[in-house]
Amino acid sequence: MSRRRRVYEGKAKILFEGPEPGTLVQYFKDDATAFNNKKHAIITGKGVLNNRISEYLMMRLGDIGVPTHFVRRLNMREQLIREVEIIPVEVVVRNVAAGSLSTRLGLEEGSPLPRSIVEYYYKSDELSDPLVSEEHVTAFGWASYQELDEILNLTLRINDFLTGLFMGVGLRLIDLKLEFGRLWEDEEMRLVLADEISPDNCRLWDRQTNEKFDKDRFRRDLGNVQEGYAEIARRLGILPEAGPRDLSGPETIQ
Ligand SMILES: Nc1ncnc2c1ncn2[C@@H]1O[C@H](COP(=O)(O)OP(=O)(O)OP(=O)(O)O)[C@@H](O)[C@H]1O
Ligand SMILES: [Mg+2]
Repeated sequence: MSRRRRVYEGKAKILFEGPEPGTLVQYFKDDATAFNNKKHAIITGKGVLNNRISEYLMMRLGDIGVPTHFVRRLNMREQLIREVEIIPVEVVVRNVAAGSLSTRLGLEEGSPLPRSIVEYYYKSDELSDPLVSEEHVTAFGWASYQELDEILNLTLRINDFLTGLFMGVGLRLIDLKLEFGRLWEDEEMRLVLADEISPDNCRLWDRQTNEKFDKDRFRRDLGNVQEGYAEIARRLGILPEAGPRDLSGPETIQ
């Protein structure tokens, strides 16, 4: 097998040059980090589960006409994606108070919000991804007014759709982090959903018991992190064929 060029290595994924120009291979690692890298662990099987869960959710979103970077899954840990110019803003949409919103505004975790709230965070590890306003996003040219408008519309649509999808399998979508990018085709630019949608970047609680199945299990040392992610995949009907035994997957990176 030929050696591929590594384009970027992040905390949870590696990007390799893809087989055709304008494509990348996204490799999902088992590394888990939190609190801006201060906490780190290997969760065996996480990469395999996130690859599968993100594939499934991006495909369902594609079905309803949401443009995404996803092309196809290649194997247990890799997927082919379209290369985009990432907008350096993390878009967070919240349905229920949790995490930093609860801390910042003194809201009890689990209390419902009057409506879905969208927040923007500037993507900067050195600055620990600070919360910013729409004003900052447009004034500093991270996205134009028009782009931000489209991002907001897409975000609310994605949130509504995924809220229903998860509710159907007994899960409450508490909040969700999204990334968008610019994709050029024949001189035309369009915004597409990029990165991943997985329990690493959303909160999912059991509809009845409020048990947490997402990355808070890692952040808060609740234990059984892999089992939580596997439970989400199981409910979505996409647990890898051989079941949990199959989750370690190939670990070799070319
Ligand atoms: N389609 C795409 N084209 C180009 N870059 C992408 C695409 N999808 C995701 N990315 C970027 O690839 C990287 C994925 O790696 P990972 O999630 O591990 O990064 P990270 O450690 O969270 O760092 P970052 O702060 O850059 O997100 C991210 O920087 C993400 O913005
Ligand atoms: Mg990331």
